[in-house]
Amino acid sequence: MKSNQSRLNSFDTLIRFLYGLVVVLFALMIYLILDPREVKENDLSGADSTARFVPVDTNFTHVWTAPSDWRMMYLSASQMELVLYGRELIAHTSDYLGPKGSVRAMSNGMNCQNCHLKAGTQPWGNNYFAVESTYPKFRARSGTVENQIKRVNDCFERSLNGAKLDSSSKEMQSILAYIAWLGQDVEKGKIPRGAGIFKLKSMKRAADPEKGKMVYDSKCQSCHQANGEGVLAAGGKSYIYPPVWGMHSYNQGAGLFRISNLAGYVKYNMPLGTTYEKAQLTDEEAWDVAAFINSMPRPGKDLSTDWPDISAKPFDHPFGPYVDPFPESQHKFGPYKPIKDWIKKHKKSKS
Ligand code: HEC
Ligand code: HEC
Repeated sequence: MKSNQSRLNSFDTLIRFLYGLVVVLFALMIYLILDPREVKENDLSGADSTARFVPVDTNFTHVWTAPSDWRMMYLSASQMELVLYGRELIAHTSDYLGPKGSVRAMSNGMNCQNCHLKAGTQPWGNNYFAVESTYPKFRARSGTVENQIKRVNDCFERSLNGAKLDSSSKEMQSILAYIAWLGQDVEKGKIPRGAGIFKLKSMKRAADPEKGKMVYDSKCQSCHQANGEGVLAAGGKSYIYPPVWGMHSYNQGAGLFRISNLAGYVKYNMPLGTTYEKAQLTDEEAWDVAAFINSMPRPGKDLSTDWPDISAKPFDHPFGPYVDPFPESQHKFGPYKPIKDWIKKHKKSKS
């Protein structure tokens, strides 16, 4: 009798416990629906405005990431080989295609990965997430519709100050296979959040190479060296710290020679180890150090066929002629607002 009673008691306790649990879960559900972490106003420029839930502590969650490697088991053996060789070429370009490259000597000793971090997978580390989804596309620099082969070779000829890679070579086919692998889940035409390089807000003043030199001396020189030429690895096949200027660095036709690209890249990726979640430079320091680096000597490039329509030049393209009345120095260093305003006004009066 007694044991029956106590069994009943513990059954009663269980029911009360379950009832309590339901109440707590219900409250939790309401809390999550009315998510107090939702922030509506502090949308950063360059961030994707379609991302609705932005936690208060940082603006940078919800960035696109690379497909997991295990999914490669669904590829054919030959396709998987291409993708893996492509990744290897992006990470260790110089071992294969640099001045002492095992396949062909056709570039300056830098690796694609020096600028496209973690083999082109780092959020806002100049990754390749939007390549498969947006190419072929019209690019105003060439005035033509470009495919990925043209775009990859642009970086070979400019960022790696080298020659074109043959479109039918195993190397080009592998790089394309790897880029397609990275972009496989991105909807056609879409640019996922965190793709490419972050677009920093421009400053009111011109970027200042002298202030930038002080940033460089204190935060960059230890790796990239006082002469900007970096540090070669033992054997001299590739760099431990790549050159940021000098004859072995990117040339004047490269994307990083535009200060907005360099500043955006540096802000969320340098000094090495910096991520989009934890920047170490202020925006001003990033702009100034970019102005300094791009004031130093580097290889030239025949740019006479670039920008057939000069009105399509970006605001910070450092070489004239321009449709607007601003000098090359202002296009290079800013302040950019007067240029942007002029362009906006004249676009309006044209239409
Ligand atoms: C010195 C730095 C640097 C190096 C080295 C470099 N790139 Fe680039 N790459 C850039 C910059 C800057 C951009 C343009 C980013 C932008 O305009 O948003 C770019 C753009 C690209 C794009 C187009 C990305 C897009 O979303 O439209 C591809 C593809 C590419 N690079 C491939 C390569 C390959 C392959 C290599 C190695 C052979 C390489 N890059 C080496 C700096 C570099
Ligand atoms: C701790 C060493 C270290 C420091 C400090 C450092 N970098 Fe780098 N930097 C690197 C390495 C390594 C790479 C290439 C990354 C890779 O290949 O994964 C790189 C790449 C670069 C690149 C692209 C490749 C090139 O050579 O053009 C630029 C630009 C750059 N760094 C600028 C800077 C600036 C500006 C600073 C200071 C704010 C800085 N770095 C501080 C190690 C460093």
